[in-house]
Amino acid sequence: MNYSESNSSRSKSELYDQLAAQLSSLLVGERDLTANAANLSALIFHALPDLNWAGSYFKKDGELVLGPFQGKPACVRIRIGEGVCGTTAAKCETVIVPNVHEFPGHIACDSASNSEIVVPLMKESQLIGVLDLDSPSFARFDEKDASGLERLAKIFVESIEFDNSQGYI
Ligand code: SME
Repeated sequence: MNYSESNSSRSKSELYDQLAAQLSSLLVGERDLTANAANLSALIFHALPDLNWAGSYFKKDGELVLGPFQGKPACVRIRIGEGVCGTTAAKCETVIVPNVHEFPGHIACDSASNSEIVVPLMKESQLIGVLDLDSPSFARFDEKDASGLERLAKIFVESIEFDNSQGYI
């Protein structure tokens, strides 16, 4: 699929349907958080067009700490309420940023990023982390991406075993 095809809302829905099925079969039978987060980011990064970063941050000791990702090295710790990731964590709602240069407090990890979407990872109504995608294109992400990625986030969260003693919650 090329990028112009993926821009139409119908093919975008089909792409996320396909990704949801692939993610479910990739994670089936495995409960490990690191392993499943690693495969989540690899699947997204290689299946969705026009990304330069895809990965997760997990809530640990009251802040977000970098988890498995694909892309260039990224900042390790983000305070709740700071940047796009911290804002998503504070609101527990998906945040779409068409132009990261206009987002107050945006944390620039890769200078190639021009737009971003961050989806909260919620387990039993508690925030456990966020799923973050960056693109070199402006306005790369829309509501179809938000609902598709929220679906993938749900499959991921339901797959994992959570150990509170690790301080994730
Ligand atoms: N841009 C994010 C920081 C994480 S990187 O994009 C990987 C933010 O503002 O929270």
